[in-house]
Amino acid sequence: MAKKVLIISTSIRANSNSEILAAAFADGAREAGNEVECVTLKDKTIGFCKGCLACQKLGRCVIDDDANDITEKLLDAEVVVWATPIYYYEMSGQSKLPLFARLSVSRRLSADHRRRG
Ligand SMILES: Cc1cc2nc3c(=O)[nH]c(=O)nc-3n(C[C@H](O)[C@H](O)[C@H](O)COP(=O)(O)O)c2cc1C
Repeated sequence: MAKKVLIISTSIRANSNSEILAAAFADGAREAGNEVECVTLKDKTIGFCKGCLACQKLGRCVIDDDANDITEKLLDAEVVVWATPIYYYEMSGQSKLPLFARLSVSRRLSADHRRRG
């Protein structure tokens, strides 16, 4: 069955390996009949979580940047693919920004997963 696939390419280098791999994955996923969207973090501005916990009341982050748009795409996707360089034995720091540096995103994602069951 066709799925909504979101591919997040996280390298901020031009012509990066991550972007090449993401594009190849996207081609295959589209050929298999899926609905695919690619996002690159190269041109995005994403701030760090301030830990203010305002999202617990508001249900959204008070920082107005590109993470908010990516959050909506993450919530809408059925499959999420990370194409990331390895920096010091793990996914790069910028890879973690859309998800883990913003409490509002992880809270909304876990609430959404509980709802979907
Ligand atoms: C600061 C830094 C740390 C790295 N650490 C690792 C590492 O721990 N293990 C590894 O296999 N490659 C490591 N690499 C190599 C990158 O993961 C590799 O070049 C990757 O393909 C770069 O991805 P990109 O072209 O999408 O930017 C490191 C590169 C840099 C710049």
